[in-house]
Amino acid sequence: MFLNLRLMLVSVLFLSLGSTSARGVASLDTLNDGRRNITDGQMLVSAGGSFTLGFFSPGELNRRYVGIWFSASMDAVVWVANRDSPLNDTAGVLEIDGAGRLFLLDGSGLTVWSSNTTTGGSGTPSSAAAQLLESGNLVVVRDDDESNGAVLWQSFDHPSNTLIAGMRLGRNPQTGAEWSLRSWRSPDNPATGDCRRAMNTRGLPDCVSWRGDAKKYRTGPWNGLWFSGVPEMASYSDMFTNQVVVRPDEVAYVFNATAAAPFSRLVLSEAGVIQRLAWDGGSRVWNVFAQAPRDVCDDYAKCSAFGLCNVNTAATLFCGCVQGYVPVSPAHWSMREAAAGCRRSTPLDCRDGGATTDGFAVVSGVKLPDTDNATVDVGATLEACRARCLATCSCVAFAAADIRGGGGGSGCVIWAGDIVDVRYVDKGQDLYVRLAKSELAAANKKRGSMLKILLPVTACLLVLMCSIFLVWICKFRGNRRNRDNQAKSILRGASNQLIGDENIELPLVSFKDIVAATNDFSNENMLGQGGFGKVYKGILEDDKEVAIKRLSKSSGQGAEEFRNEVVLIAKLQHRNLVRLLGYCIHEDERLLIYEYLPKKSLDVFIFDAASKYVLDWPTRFQIIKGVARGLLYLHQDSRLTIIHRDLKSSNILLDVDMSPKISDFGMARIFGRDQQEANTNRVVGTYGYMSPEYAMDGAFSVKSDTYSFGVLLLEIISGLKISLPHLSEFPNLLAYAWNLWNDGKPMDMVDSSIADNCSPTEVLRCIHIGLLCVQDNPYNRPLMSSVVFMLENETTELSTPRQPVYFAYRNSEAKETGENTSSSMNNMSVTMFEGR
Ligand SMILES: *[C@@H]1O[C@H](CO)[C@@H](O)[C@H](O)[C@H]1NC(C)=O
Ligand SMILES: *[C@@H]1O[C@H](CO)[C@@H](O)[C@H](O)[C@H]1NC(C)=O
Ligand SMILES: *[C@@H]1O[C@H](CO)[C@@H](O)[C@H](O)[C@H]1NC(C)=O
Ligand SMILES: *[C@@H]1O[C@H](CO)[C@@H](O)[C@H](O)[C@H]1NC(C)=O
Ligand SMILES: *[C@@H]1O[C@H](CO)[C@@H](O)[C@H](O)[C@H]1NC(C)=O
Repeated sequence: MFLNLRLMLVSVLFLSLGSTSARGVASLDTLNDGRRNITDGQMLVSAGGSFTLGFFSPGELNRRYVGIWFSASMDAVVWVANRDSPLNDTAGVLEIDGAGRLFLLDGSGLTVWSSNTTTGGSGTPSSAAAQLLESGNLVVVRDDDESNGAVLWQSFDHPSNTLIAGMRLGRNPQTGAEWSLRSWRSPDNPATGDCRRAMNTRGLPDCVSWRGDAKKYRTGPWNGLWFSGVPEMASYSDMFTNQVVVRPDEVAYVFNATAAAPFSRLVLSEAGVIQRLAWDGGSRVWNVFAQAPRDVCDDYAKCSAFGLCNVNTAATLFCGCVQGYVPVSPAHWSMREAAAGCRRSTPLDCRDGGATTDGFAVVSGVKLPDTDNATVDVGATLEACRARCLATCSCVAFAAADIRGGGGGSGCVIWAGDIVDVRYVDKGQDLYVRLAKSELAAANKKRGSMLKILLPVTACLLVLMCSIFLVWICKFRGNRRNRDNQAKSILRGASNQLIGDENIELPLVSFKDIVAATNDFSNENMLGQGGFGKVYKGILEDDKEVAIKRLSKSSGQGAEEFRNEVVLIAKLQHRNLVRLLGYCIHEDERLLIYEYLPKKSLDVFIFDAASKYVLDWPTRFQIIKGVARGLLYLHQDSRLTIIHRDLKSSNILLDVDMSPKISDFGMARIFGRDQQEANTNRVVGTYGYMSPEYAMDGAFSVKSDTYSFGVLLLEIISGLKISLPHLSEFPNLLAYAWNLWNDGKPMDMVDSSIADNCSPTEVLRCIHIGLLCVQDNPYNRPLMSSVVFMLENETTELSTPRQPVYFAYRNSEAKETGENTSSSMNNMSVTMFEGR
């Protein structure tokens, strides 16, 4: 991809020199009578240069696609034409015919994709033009005298996995036509994936993410200002305006960027996570501005019918019942299993003619329930809504549909069936739940007596907190301001400095600034400590959080050597590798600045009795695949082969969306293109993860990483550590896994936290692949490219694994090299081989 980008930039220059001067008519952003087609290697560039349309390969070079990407970052593909029918070679041609239809033809002239342009009923145009607009929209317009400028087709009407400013997410209720996002199959395959994000127009407009037929997440209904479950939308209105258009022929969400806003895109990932990314032109990275789902309570209907999810109550696994309701199955509920939901504890009083003694309890600060089957009347007042609910025996709850007017809001949503997917959110709305009189009386009494106690206590507390706060402000304000200003200049000032060759821009940060960012390497800021130095959390420029690795001074590495290696590592950019953001050389200090990952490392989750539940099987499977991809990238980077040599669970850091990032290339070795294997006298790494040939003879190759990956995979599935003597009958995890496999009971090794809800075929396949990776003979182990392929394609045949060799370590040996490294980082003792 990156190499391609360079090629393409060359051809852009070529095009801009060539075509404008030669023909005059053909402009760089248009296909028309002047230039009817582009071939692979040629491009359209929008007038302001923001967007580029052309041919690209996200993964293997033998699959070519036509797409539109953000020019400054070719990875940011916003639209793909032929996502499900790639070209096999570079002989493709995109062309427009006189009627305004776009065709993508392969080398033999067969149509691989076409735009299905309709003429809109006013006759076939005699001339049409396709233009890539500065908004990123490819529009086909009529170019003849008949109806000048009529849009015949536009790419914005056919979204891929990305929404950018001006695009719609919604549907036409009259025709059923939909503007929805479909995820890619995988990060390097744009084929239509499993996840979808669409607007639900039953009830109030609500954006819903689906995986297959299952609802995964919804934003909550639009309340006139924001989606009920995402109040934070309003907080970035200085950059983006959010709008929901409701018309008979269109219900759609659109966002528009203000002139000052950075380029932004909403992307639906392969895992169904929707992220709003914003481009930071200075450091040339995409920052995650917002994402959903954010936490467990965002999982659709997490607490089932009449349940209420609260992220702050981990002790009850986040689920409670709405006031006046109790768990249907208390036994299951106490086992933290909410699937059965809640039921009303006292029956309602509902008589013919609407006479009733029932009333309402207000559940405040929530994301409103799914309005899929609710009745909506935007014209009603809240008072009328209440009366309407009381008059209808089936009504269980009501709420305001629109909160723009302030007060309690206006409009009326009435729920008659179950209410699902309710959670607490900041700035949430009021939900009025219908309850029997006795329930309300009980609640009021309780509240009354609580108030008597709480009021004086609260008052005292308030006074106390105010005074503490005042003191704090006086004391720290000065300090804080100084530090902020320093930090702001850190990356900015240095970011133009070029080091090494090939235009790697990596900021050289001053030591003074690092001292400020880490509070002079204070212990509070320390994240971890490994054999090669300490890692600190630092806060830079506008509260940007980073992890700073301070290498031990004993490394004795020269400045030049260090800098060369920094450049090398900085070029490794992959979503499954921790990103290097900058570095510092100061006397004998060597520091590296990395992106900060708040979620800590994989071992913190999988080996912990309480936290392991956070990672369900789909998440673990994604982690396995992500690590495999990251490792493959290291092994098969375009120029070099990099052997990690210390892959283990504590070196896998997790991103906010639980996507894995490999860290600590501390012992990495870099091979030249043709080198296959090397030997070392200094065996470094972690026992248990080391392949037999490496541990015994010091021989390592890409296959030693494959071995470590196999061990890691079995750990992720079993929740058992390779290196601890936890299994009395077996020397280690591999022996345990092999025995169960041989006895035909491989599923017995699956960790109890995922056993009930995992896909047995996926898990079995993973165990199988894991066992292939840990085979004794390195030649029998698969390359990471095959591992990735086997993980992604569930139909490929797998060979039969052979029994692994077990090591029985003495306890003293069975310890890890980098203890406590919740965020252990790079030590940069990489050595370069010159090839054979
Ligand atoms: C593309 O256009 C050029 C000239 O505009 C023409 O010579 C060539 O045949 C066209 N290619 C295809 C495949 O139509
Ligand atoms: C690509 O190659 C495969 C197998 O050779 C073939 O089935 C497919 O039709 C080809 N696709 C195109 C667009 O040429
Ligand atoms: C193109 O239009 C035809 C007829 O209107 C329809 O059957 C077909 O599914 C459309 N194809 C695409 C890719 O939209
Ligand atoms: C979006 O914002 C631009 C200015 O940044 C403005 O010109 C345009 O009219 C806006 N579009 C909509 C639909 O609000
Ligand atoms: C709405 O009703 C349909 C059909 O009865 C049902 O399948 C669906 O689950 C209901 N939706 C909600 C949110 O209850």
